[in-house]
Amino acid sequence: MVTANAQEWLHELGGPQNVSDTLDTLRQLTPDRWHVLIVEIFEGKLQLGKPFWELCCVLNLFARRRAPAKYLEIGVRRGKSMAQVACNSRDCDITGFDAWISPYAHVENPGPDFVAWEMQRLGHRGNLELISGDTQKTLPQFLRNHPDDLFELATIDGDHSEEGAMRDLRNVAPRIASGGLLLFDDLTNPNCPLAGVWKHFQKECHADFVFYQNLDDHQGTGIAIRNPF
Ligand SMILES: C[S@@+](CC[C@H](N)C(=O)[O-])C[C@H]1O[C@@H](n2cnc3c(N)ncnc32)[C@H](O)[C@@H]1O
Repeated sequence: MVTANAQEWLHELGGPQNVSDTLDTLRQLTPDRWHVLIVEIFEGKLQLGKPFWELCCVLNLFARRRAPAKYLEIGVRRGKSMAQVACNSRDCDITGFDAWISPYAHVENPGPDFVAWEMQRLGHRGNLELISGDTQKTLPQFLRNHPDDLFELATIDGDHSEEGAMRDLRNVAPRIASGGLLLFDDLTNPNCPLAGVWKHFQKECHADFVFYQNLDDHQGTGIAIRNPF
């Protein structure tokens, strides 16, 4: 039943409305060099009118259609992906983890104060907790301190080493609520392709999740939907 519901909204993923909604939120962010590029990519895709989706599109659609109560994000940088939830599900409580490595991808990584200001500026009303440090330490510590927390939505986009990405996936997976979504980015990113990690994770967790992925658009995105408990 959960999967049928999920497929109902998944059907809208990558359609013109979804791409246009995602672009609307992207346009509200304070730009940097990479941001200008991503807005141009979205504008081009919208003009072409062909299906297209990546991480921000999934977050936008789920935030609009399911209004999650709790979102967990690993790898925040300037808040591009987080903004899709903060803007479209404004009362959602958000917990973000980042080591704020700077420069990151050749640009400044401004840190948690900038992200908090940006989310507030976008109209986010829920609680926002930004946890600084390496998720090898901060994530297990947070999960130990919040033993009952479950998340309807989570993104893993932090440590891009195979070992680090797998560790974050394994730590977060048991905390995805029934029918909730675990998203994984950069399956096909030429600088750090994580498709092998995603494949491995699917093998490990095939009984707990239904998996989808897009290896064609942008840098490749994986979706895992939690089966009912
Ligand atoms: C690809 S960026 C995140 C992009 C963001 N999701 C977006 O859509 O704009 C990855 C982020 O993960 C952080 N990071 C890398 N390794 C980390 C680690 N071991 N622990 C915590 N954060 C890490 C970097 O500082 C960087 O800000």
